[in-house]
Amino acid sequence: MTPEGELIKIDTSVAHSARVYDYLLGGKDNFAADREAGDQMIEALPNVVSGSRMNRAFLARAVRYLVADCGIRQFLDIGTGIPAAGNTHEVAQAIAPQTRVVYVDNDPIVLAHARALLIGTPEGLVDYLHADLRDPGEILSAAAGTLDFSQPIALMMLLVLHMIPDADGPHAIVGRLLSALPPGSYLALSHPPSDILPDDVAEMQQRLNKRLGPGQSMTARSRDEVARFFRGLGLVPPGLVQVHQWRPDGRLDPDAPASVWCAVGHKTT
Ligand SMILES: C[S@@+](CC[C@H](N)C(=O)[O-])C[C@H]1O[C@@H](n2cnc3c(N)ncnc32)[C@H](O)[C@@H]1O
Repeated sequence: MTPEGELIKIDTSVAHSARVYDYLLGGKDNFAADREAGDQMIEALPNVVSGSRMNRAFLARAVRYLVADCGIRQFLDIGTGIPAAGNTHEVAQAIAPQTRVVYVDNDPIVLAHARALLIGTPEGLVDYLHADLRDPGEILSAAAGTLDFSQPIALMMLLVLHMIPDADGPHAIVGRLLSALPPGSYLALSHPPSDILPDDVAEMQQRLNKRLGPGQSMTARSRDEVARFFRGLGLVPPGLVQVHQWRPDGRLDPDAPASVWCAVGHKTT
């Protein structure tokens, strides 16, 4: 049931990106079709498992940096995923309990977990929107019920834009979202690469796309294509790097392979 009491329909016969990712992270919210797709991905690109874990570690480091070093107190986290260890609101509110977080995802199974996500600190606010990234206008107007768009906001788009094909204009979508944020805001983003281990990633993409349900497909992108998401922003050092290379904090092996691009950008004007 949804928080509004509607019945959620989940097709478990085909793979779904949120559940495949849950499987790669060692979670339990996945079905045979998701595990089969995950195993096919691992066979093509063995470091997809360490890459997924390093992506979660990047999320935690980026949120800590944004809250502790940049003073950010508002997050719009699109492509939330099934709750895993160290969700955005948990990391942020552990440092600044008054932090507000709006989560957005279009997967019914993530919606089913919304109640678990909605538990934040009494001083802060956590909200969940069941919405599609391809409709940024709807996301912005609904998020305005919780977030103050006159104050800086960190837009989190970790491992989600690869699920938006070029035909759906992913760069224009990010541009539209960023245009609604005031100066002082940030964009944290991670994305599978088409130019690191390109043959293995292409094979992984092909195998996953064969198994994903209707309306879903992944598109890996090159470093230049990922850099274009940050057009008009200043990149926080060390810039656009692989997830394990972004401000490593000693908890990770900095040489462990992780084929995922990431960066944090600052909107100054
Ligand atoms: C790989 S998970 C990433 C989860 C989390 N951001 C992280 O990096 O750990 C991708 C998530 O994006 C969601 N997603 C994919 N396409 C979407 C869309 N068009 N609109 C909203 N969410 C989407 C999926 O349902 C899934 O939960």
